Formats: sequence, C-alpha cells, structure tokens
Amino acid sequence: MLPEKLSENLFYVGVNDRTTEFFERMISLPYGVSYNSYLLVDEKVALFDTVENHFAEQSLSKIKYALNGRKIDYLVIHHIEPDHTSGIKNFLAEYPDIQIVCNKKAAAMLDGFYGISQNILLVEEKQELLLGAHTLRFLFAPMVHWPEVMMTYETSEKILFSADAFGCFGTLDGAVEDSKLNVEKYFSEMERYYVNIIGKYGVPVQTILKKLADFHIDTICSLHGPVWRENKAKVIEIYDKLSKHEGENGVVVVYGSMYSHTEMMAEMAARGAAEITKNVILHDVSKSDISQIITDIFKYKGLIIGAPTYNGDIFPNVKDVLERLEIRGLKNRIFGSFGCFTWAGQAVKILNAFAEKMQWENIGSAEVKQSMQQSDYQTLIELGRAVAQKVLK
Ligand code: FEO
Repeated sequence: MLPEKLSENLFYVGVNDRTTEFFERMISLPYGVSYNSYLLVDEKVALFDTVENHFAEQSLSKIKYALNGRKIDYLVIHHIEPDHTSGIKNFLAEYPDIQIVCNKKAAAMLDGFYGISQNILLVEEKQELLLGAHTLRFLFAPMVHWPEVMMTYETSEKILFSADAFGCFGTLDGAVEDSKLNVEKYFSEMERYYVNIIGKYGVPVQTILKKLADFHIDTICSLHGPVWRENKAKVIEIYDKLSKHEGENGVVVVYGSMYSHTEMMAEMAARGAAEITKNVILHDVSKSDISQIITDIFKYKGLIIGAPTYNGDIFPNVKDVLERLEIRGLKNRIFGSFGCFTWAGQAVKILNAFAEKMQWENIGSAEVKQSMQQSDYQTLIELGRAVAQKVLK
C-alpha cells in the first residue's frame, strides 16, 4: 500500500477497518473505523503509534514505501489500548532497533500486555526530543481515555498528535485530510465516539483543552478519523461542548414498550415538546442503536424517559440506558418520566429515584395503569411541553 503524504516530511501510514462490526465489541460501526499512524521523516525518523494486529502488514507496507530502505529511530506511543498496539510485535520484528518513546505508565502497560520492556526511552511531561528540523514536545493527557495517554506537539509544523482526542468513527475513503473529504458524517460520528468511548472523562478532557489553548495548532493528527486542518476549531468545539455536559436546546424522548401503551405515552410527550422546539428525538430502546441513544442524550439538554414496569422492576433495555448514563456521570439534564404498569407500578419510581441520584432537575412524571385514558393524553402533552419550556429558558 502507498502512504498518504501530509507534508514534505509527514506521512499517513494508518489503515481502514471496514469489517469489524462493533468497536470494543459493543459500539456499532456503520461506517467502519480507521486506526491512524503517522511517520515523520527527518534526520531521525519517528513513527507515531502502530495499528491493530490484523492490519499491521498493511501499515508496514506503507512505511517501507515511504522510507525506501531507511530505518525507524523512534516509535512514539501515545496510548496503549490494543486498537493501537496489538500489532506492535510485527513492527518490532521489522525494525528491531527501534526505540520506544513513552511515559512510565505506558511502559508498565506495554510490559503487561506484550512483555516488551527493552529499548524504551521514558519521557516526562514537556520533555522535548529533537529529530532534526522537527522537535517533539510531550504533553500528558491522563484519562483522555486511559491513564497513560499522552500527546505530542511538533513545534516546526505545529502538528498535534492528539491520541484518541478529536477522533471519530468512520473509515477514510480515498483521502485522509478533512479538506479532501466530505466531512459531514464524521462530525456525528465524532459525537458518538466521544460519548461512548471518552464520555466518562469530561473533566480530564477539559484539563487538556485548557493546556492546548497555549499552543498554536495547524494540524491535528488523531488516532481515529480524518486529519483535521480546515475544521480543527470545530472539532475542538465538539469536544469542549460534550465534555462540559452543557446540552443543546432540544428534547430526547427515550422509551421501552411491550404492547405500545408506553409508546403512545412517548408519542404524546414528544408532541408536547414539539410545540416548543423542533429538536425532538424519539428513541425506542428495543430498536434504536444504544450508542446513538446515549449520544443524543448527551447532545440535548431535555430528557424524558418512559418504561413499563417489568418483573417488579423497570423494562431491562431502559435499565441499560440508565446504567450507561450513570457510568458516564451525565450532568445538567432537565428531566421528565412516564411509565405504564398492569398491577403494580415500579418504573416511574425507579426513574424518579434515578433523576435524584443524578441531580437532574425533575419536571414531573406521568403514570398509567394498563392503558391510556382520555385525560392521560393531555397529561403527557403537558409533560413534554414543560420539559421543553424549561430547556429553552
Ligand atoms: Fe483508540 Fe482508547 O483507543
């Protein structure tokens, strides 16, 4: 395979994964995913990260073409997660003299995962490494996804190698730079990537964003998705907004339903919300992609959840949504709930207790026994309207 040239000295040597169906075996990949790797050629040659095991040969063929017989001096590892390191032994077999540049936490993981502990150059925060005309400065970004994560800022071309940050799902179809791609799908895939992969770590993301504000950045080279040049301000804004848990104006109605009674309640709540805002999204938990449900809940400030009572508990797929939100510590939601039961109601109680635990503002709830009566329609419409009105305030 041929590498993609990003500048006189910088090459893209990453790969596209079009076959894996679920990232981390959980998160759907309708547009695939790329595992990015970069090569900087100067008096010294540095490779930034490797790729997933199945794609190592493809990446190596790009590297060999770019280097035309030269060797790699440094392998800079920003993140140990196996989507970026499981192919590392193939790279070390091809370039046995390579020196691995990483921090202390990454070195321990490298040993733990792969038994690799030789030829390691440990670096500290803000330490620099000279390649020739290019200088690498290392920035630690713990918990921007894992504790060992670091970034590299290259000072002459003003490139930020950002690890997972500013990454997104979606393969790179024919080109790798944002200016050469139709980038629309990547923005929504970035939201889904952020919320599902990094969503728990909003505070560490805010910390690194503040650190990066001191740097002039021309190019962002993330570990997934396009190389950002034209749209770098936009992708930083996406990460900033989502990590602050601010939420845009809009209402997400999430529901589970077995025999359509709770679904009718959802329809009415959505109708009330739609009187106030156009941004209303309905998700049936039995049908919608769970990663998209969680993403939309992160994206919008208003949230109304409905469920039937099931086995004296709440409908299991709705419970799954609640657990995923709790794990990610989602803050600042304007909340409403509704539920349906046949002989003993539990779902609404559980939803209200959940809102209290999350410290969300609870606007109200509606509960129906067996089926909706005429007066219930209006109650649900009013609930939807009240949540939307509060969101717009
Ligand atoms: Fe792309 Fe956290 O690994």
